[in-house]
Amino acid sequence: MKGIILAGGAGSRMYPTSVCYSKQLILIYDKPMIYYPLSTLMLAGIREILIISNAETLPFYERLFGDGSNLGMDIRYALQPAPQGIAQAFLIGEDFIGKDDVTLILGDNIFYGNLDFVRCAIQNNTGATVFGYYVTDPERYGVVEFDESGKAISLEEKPKVPKSNYAVVGLYIYNHEVVQYTRQLKPSARGELEITDLNKAYLASSKLDVELMGRGIAWLDTGTPQALLDASTFIGALEKRQGLKVACIEEAAYMMNFIDTAQLSRIVTSLPQSDYRSYLEKVLKDDLLHHKYQK
Ligand code: G1P
Repeated sequence: MKGIILAGGAGSRMYPTSVCYSKQLILIYDKPMIYYPLSTLMLAGIREILIISNAETLPFYERLFGDGSNLGMDIRYALQPAPQGIAQAFLIGEDFIGKDDVTLILGDNIFYGNLDFVRCAIQNNTGATVFGYYVTDPERYGVVEFDESGKAISLEEKPKVPKSNYAVVGLYIYNHEVVQYTRQLKPSARGELEITDLNKAYLASSKLDVELMGRGIAWLDTGTPQALLDASTFIGALEKRQGLKVACIEEAAYMMNFIDTAQLSRIVTSLPQSDYRSYLEKVLKDDLLHHKYQK
């Protein structure tokens, strides 16, 4: 299973910050936003990841993550010259995907909670799997409609009159056919290859599985300044209470056995004195914490 993080978009709702700053690099409490979706993929066991972004921002991601080998991963980069839709990621990433299955996560989607369901969904996926999450404002998202038996029967992108309160979150699992399906899509009225159209194509072939994401999971929006503040406050409250970091990618790599103690130790030594370094020193020393968290 390969992973793609799409960290593009104009970020117009974040103006004026968006003029010279990419949304996915904005701080969510104590680390850049992209750390959160990256750690979600890592905790799902995905080690080969393609980060797609625009020309101005790609060098920043490369500076943050390099080739990923530090984390026992293979991280590559690809350019999306213009924001022409989420599904375009599969055309850009065609060579990277090859004949594999692929999980796509949007660079501004934050998930918190027990993420075992992602690993299970990856194991069980045969066509495509998407996740529905109950929200108060479904009109801002892709929306899924269910029949009485709970079967997904329609998908709509940002409908004016949503048929349910279930938003489709920015985490999508596809089989190896995804590039073929994407090739058949036509750009929408706003000139984009819509992820919802791709999911509709899988639905039409009876190959779409829509799973409901439980109430124990937080799916945080980061689309507006207020939502950003809310996300930072949420993560800050958790980290302060527990003294454990959310989305610390070095810890995730260690917990997932992508790296061993010696490598974590090398990473820690290379970091500047900071709260982040002190935390990783604690992770290194605190075997109990580490073992407790390991499955
Ligand atoms: C995109 C998708 C939408 C999905 C949302 C999740 O919308 O088009 O279907 O529900 O991501 O974050 P965007 O936020 O890019 O407008």
